[in-house]
Amino acid sequence: RRKGAIFDLDGVITDTAKYHYLAWKRLASELGLYFDEKINERLKGIGRLESLEIILEENGQNFSHQEKEYYANRKNQYYVEMIKNITPKDILPGVTNLIATLKAWGVKLAVASASKNAPTVLKNLRIIEWFDHVVDAGRIKKGKPDPEIFLVAAQNIGVKPWECVGFEDSAAGIEALKRAGMLAVGIGDKEALKDADLVVKDLTFITPILELFF
Ligand code: G6P
Ligand code: MG
Repeated sequence: RRKGAIFDLDGVITDTAKYHYLAWKRLASELGLYFDEKINERLKGIGRLESLEIILEENGQNFSHQEKEYYANRKNQYYVEMIKNITPKDILPGVTNLIATLKAWGVKLAVASASKNAPTVLKNLRIIEWFDHVVDAGRIKKGKPDPEIFLVAAQNIGVKPWECVGFEDSAAGIEALKRAGMLAVGIGDKEALKDADLVVKDLTFITPILELFF
């Protein structure tokens, strides 16, 4: 029986994945760098500085560490501006119902996002108090696809990794969940999330399926 549910944030609970994309797009065009949806797919679940490194690599460019910090910070300023007006209306379909159902089943809940903006987004959505634990991205040494963030989440809700189900929209996140020994539910495209145990388009109508696991 599963006793814990761990949620990624961006692209799972709310559609901030699109704001990350738009903020990178703006920075890339200012720097004259090529950036498209395909490159963006590689950035999902990946930390701020590493994301910039991937964009630079795709463009055959390399910046100094100082420049990278400077531009990653600029991208973040664009992103912070975009998430300022997020409200509970921006919670994705099915999420509220799923969380309420899991709570009624006595399942422990955590958020495991690589984003340093996760607490702000969760507060704006007014759902931060639903979770038993929100992992502090600043304290994670190895990002997804390393399993660390999910193992830390499980530990903080007092549940063994194999008792957890994880919800992810990124390939890096699905890999991290599998390496952590968790059941991986992918949200999005079947092709992009091949290694997930189960892929759904969104979280509406997921509870009857989850009844098999919890
Ligand atoms: C999540 C998103 C990534 C983002 C990362 C860091 O994993 O999926 O697109 O780069 O968080 O977010 P931050 O808000 O700290 O720049
Ligand atoms: Mg995500």
